[in-house]
Amino acid sequence: MVEIIILILLVGIFFTFAHGAISGAPWVPTGKRDVERFLEIANIKEGERVYDMGCGDGKVLFACAKKGAKAEGFEIAIFPFILAKIRLFFCKEKKNVKIHYGNIWKWDLRGADVIYIYLMPKAYPRMKRKLEKEARKGTRVVTYCWPIRGWESSLKERNENKLGFFLYEI
Ligand SMILES: C[S@@+](CC[C@H](N)C(=O)[O-])C[C@H]1O[C@@H](n2cnc3c(N)ncnc32)[C@H](O)[C@@H]1O
Repeated sequence: MVEIIILILLVGIFFTFAHGAISGAPWVPTGKRDVERFLEIANIKEGERVYDMGCGDGKVLFACAKKGAKAEGFEIAIFPFILAKIRLFFCKEKKNVKIHYGNIWKWDLRGADVIYIYLMPKAYPRMKRKLEKEARKGTRVVTYCWPIRGWESSLKERNENKLGFFLYEI
């Protein structure tokens, strides 16, 4: 009986990871130093609303909340989502962080001042259309690793591992 429960749990976890990987990207967290760099590049200010499109374990959200921003994320893979909720429990700025279990493609982006995107490049054309439809004028968009094709970035930067940030303003 215990084996069956464990098997069901493992299969469930596998499928949520697979779902994330297929519909956006697998869970690969942004490195600690790059999170700090993101805060600088996006120029996160107190009271601003920051959305993380597939928030993983929430590390970007918690860093933004420390800066006084209101940080919000959706996550579809159950394991990082639970991790994010556990981290939220211990977070000093928890009133500034919202973590939802769900699909980013169903999330309305109108409320954001800053949007952080770290997905697979295959998801970017769809994300570009969504941003063009929903994001408010003036919203800052930062992508990690890959640019949004067809948009001119106001800043491009690559770290020592050749991973980069691209900053856009809608
Ligand atoms: C490359 S990871 C980045 C995680 C986090 N933003 C960070 O920088 O540490 C992409 C995350 O997006 C999640 N994801 C992919 N597709 C998604 C979708 N359709 N809805 C919600 N989350 C999704 C994945 O499960 C994964 O945790």
